[in-house]
Amino acid sequence: MKQAKMLISKNAKIGQIDNRIYGSFIEHLGRAVYTGIYEPSHETADEEGFRKDVLDMVAKLNVPIIRYPGGNFVSGYNWEDGTGPKDKRPRRPELAWHTIETNQVGIDEFQSWAKKANADIMMAVNLGTRGPEEARQLLEYCNFPSGTYYSDMRRNNGFEKPFNIKTWCLGNEMDGPWQICGKTMQEYARIATQTAKVMKDLDPSIELVACGSSHLNMPTFGHWELTVLEEAYDYVDYISLHNYYGNQDDNTEDYLACSMDMDTFIKSVIAICDTVKAIKHGSKDINLSFDEWNVWFHSNDADSKLEWWQQAPHQLEDIYNFEDALVVGCLLISLLKHCDRVKMACLAQLVNVIAPIMTVEGGPCYAQTIFYPFYYTSNFGRGTALTPIISSDTYDTDKHKNIPYVESIAIENQEMGEIIVFAVNRSLEENIDFNIDLSDYGNPELIEHVVLTNDDMKATNTVEHPDNVVPTNAEINNNIVLTKHSWNMLRYKLRGATI
Ligand code: AHR
Repeated sequence: MKQAKMLISKNAKIGQIDNRIYGSFIEHLGRAVYTGIYEPSHETADEEGFRKDVLDMVAKLNVPIIRYPGGNFVSGYNWEDGTGPKDKRPRRPELAWHTIETNQVGIDEFQSWAKKANADIMMAVNLGTRGPEEARQLLEYCNFPSGTYYSDMRRNNGFEKPFNIKTWCLGNEMDGPWQICGKTMQEYARIATQTAKVMKDLDPSIELVACGSSHLNMPTFGHWELTVLEEAYDYVDYISLHNYYGNQDDNTEDYLACSMDMDTFIKSVIAICDTVKAIKHGSKDINLSFDEWNVWFHSNDADSKLEWWQQAPHQLEDIYNFEDALVVGCLLISLLKHCDRVKMACLAQLVNVIAPIMTVEGGPCYAQTIFYPFYYTSNFGRGTALTPIISSDTYDTDKHKNIPYVESIAIENQEMGEIIVFAVNRSLEENIDFNIDLSDYGNPELIEHVVLTNDDMKATNTVEHPDNVVPTNAEINNNIVLTKHSWNMLRYKLRGATI
């Protein structure tokens, strides 16, 4: 059997995990909102029309922050359309996804849903068709207490107390040629800075995320971040990263290595943030908001054939298989490995649209394969991330070299009094004997070993068979074996005050 080792040391800590690393995303796109979180005619709908069955599943994922309302959608959105009496709201052609937006859900409703989901909102402003003034007005509507035009508009709409939204995105993917009114890097640097200034003049307590590149392979990657941060450094707190992964070549061994690309992306953006800090003789770090990440490729063909101007069509409905769950497990480990700088991240998205949760209109909802690594990592992976000192054999593919068979990280979860280890065995052929040296923590007791594996890499969950790919509990055995192509969580109970 192959061997791998991990040394865990109390003195080798990456840093405290910001819980917002387990954020997610709801966009006005496809069935994320309509027949996703909101379906007034559904048997579980509450008095506001929100599906309680979906809220229950969202609650399981323990998502502390949810990005809204887009995505590409936001770059053509008039936020006022989604406020006030529902029967007066306009139906509009929506240009990002070529659908009809009914505006039956807007910020008035979403802020209430987010409270029910126990999540804060990461609100995006439209820097496509609109600019600083409309962003400032939206902020006034959401956060100003009372006695001004937009705060009183909110109060007249029935919301006496401000929504107090603390995190704001300055547009979305403004480098993308697909973006409604996309910008050059110079144009975006200017509008983002000016918008940031007026927003912070109105509410200095907010935090702002500037758009970085839409993915690592954008032709302007690097230059974009540098140009934007050189102008906006004093006014923004985070730069965004977006990246989706897929097994387009049907090469699983290579696909499982895509988290290494995420590592490269994160390291490169950190380098740029620190370069700008140095150039500016600055004292603050610009941190990273990886506010769109996931697997996205299964639905591309179907989406290219979609008829335009439908209401809430089946769009971006990727059906995830078992190997996608392994990839999501690896991507989560990558985010945790950089938790000293990646303070926020959003699994894109949450319901129906490239999502862990799927619904049937008028029917049940169920968990996709990727639900499970996210569920365990979000619920147990809280506390301090420890530096993974791992020795593992490696393999090569055409696109990636030195891919470790074992991807892993350990977390000191102070609240639970446990060390949590997440580990993926990328080998498609062999089990791996995983020796975890926890002597620095007084050899705590292994209390649970959760395994997600499947003989069929392409196995999926469906509404008829929602339990096709689900985790199981392995027998507790101190000789840890990571079965071939598996995701694992190991929980070790600390004895006494060993932290
Ligand atoms: O999440 C789906 C889309 O992916 C978002 O709207 C956009 O920001 C990205 O390209």
